[in-house]
Amino acid sequence: MTNQIWNPHEYRKSADFVPEMGRAVIELLEPKAGERILDLGCGTGVLAKELAAGGCTVVGTDASPEMVEAARTAGVDARLADAQTLKMDEKFDAVFSNDAIHWMPDHYAVVRRVWNLLVPGGRFAAECGGEGCVRIIREGMKIALIKRGIDYKARNPWKFPELGTFSDILENQGFRVKFIARIDRPTPLVHGLRRWLEVFSASHTDGFTSEEKEAFYKEVEDYCRPTLYSEANGWSADYVRLRFLAVKPEE
Ligand code: BEZ
Repeated sequence: MTNQIWNPHEYRKSADFVPEMGRAVIELLEPKAGERILDLGCGTGVLAKELAAGGCTVVGTDASPEMVEAARTAGVDARLADAQTLKMDEKFDAVFSNDAIHWMPDHYAVVRRVWNLLVPGGRFAAECGGEGCVRIIREGMKIALIKRGIDYKARNPWKFPELGTFSDILENQGFRVKFIARIDRPTPLVHGLRRWLEVFSASHTDGFTSEEKEAFYKEVEDYCRPTLYSEANGWSADYVRLRFLAVKPEE
């Protein structure tokens, strides 16, 4: 079990690009006023609020109590729940998810839960990290952890789905896959790689002293610099996305 503690304040400051880039999924979803939409892994609630502003009734869920609190403060009907075990009495016209599914190791369970929450004809539109996402950063972290005798796998919180595998999971559940794409999207890190590591990879340095963290960050930066840094553009992360739209057929 990995230990990722979210700090909504730091997240808003350093990861504002996450909801910004999630707008592509809203376009894919094509929400209509009056629809009931579930935002799976709503985080601080930025995109849930946008959906609500378009006239949808939105419920958000997140497995992080800190994120649920932040989303509620922003005015979102947010509930504490793990999408892998999620059960609700309500049904939704659509389930939306941005940048969350790769934090949920059991993709079969997620797809099954989403299916159960959708009305016939309901849509599942999502984007998450795809196979190969942040490969260079992960290599850097792996090398730094192995050097310290730490089991990288036990600390890795992410499962980045492969396109064919995820498409099969959706179809085996009964969904019709309308669109699915693996997208290479190098992502500028305007606050630097170190900030990204602090916000997203907390489980890798769980239990480290601040000096140990410093040394770890420096080693990862040194490993990544030749490929992910340039004087002209600063740091970027080697993001790969998996974006899809699937529909639960009418009965
Ligand atoms: C994210 O949650 O935004 C994320 C985490 C790890 C790699 C890429 C993106």
